[in-house]
Amino acid sequence: MRSEMEQDILKVLVTEEQLRERIAEMGEILYDRFHDKKPLFLSVLKGSFVFMADLVRACQVKSDVEFIAVSSYQNATTSSGRVQITHDLQQDITGRHLIIVEDILDSGNTLAFLKEYFLTKGAASITIVTLLDKPARRAKAITADLAGFVVPDEFVVGYGLDYAQQYRNVPYIGVLKPEVYTQQ
Ligand code: PRP
Repeated sequence: MRSEMEQDILKVLVTEEQLRERIAEMGEILYDRFHDKKPLFLSVLKGSFVFMADLVRACQVKSDVEFIAVSSYQNATTSSGRVQITHDLQQDITGRHLIIVEDILDSGNTLAFLKEYFLTKGAASITIVTLLDKPARRAKAITADLAGFVVPDEFVVGYGLDYAQQYRNVPYIGVLKPEVYTQQ
């Protein structure tokens, strides 16, 4: 049965099964790289909360988790370029091997800012893991160390990604119908 939310979805870009398979692979890759390093999985909220939950369970390394919340879109569909920390780290990351967990790498503004920030806080290494990579809109020289899927320049929602704080609980990655964000 299609939910009311799903009527706003133009098409499915990445299915639940594709997500499961790819995240299992990503977990294995990270296991090989980090099994002897006690990494810190650092989720960039809010968008990455669903991916984070699946990724840490797909990667059975001794590790801990941390969260930081930033916002640069402020309900707009394109990045304002100004990144604001809305919830800061709650622990010292000096000397830690960070696995930054993002839902999407788009303009790169968020990760360019965060990479610099984590380096000034004394991280030993920074590995950027993003579920989705949208290279078409990159404005900063930032690349992911590991990306789940490369996506075209379309407005994607679901699996944590929102439009105006909605659709995060759609279980797959979908493209939003343009009339949904042009009508408002
Ligand atoms: C989204 C997404 C990334 C960022 C990527 O966050 O979760 O953090 O934008 O875009 P960029 O590469 O252009 O910086 P947003 O600011 O929308 O907040 P949210 O995670 O709470 O949805």
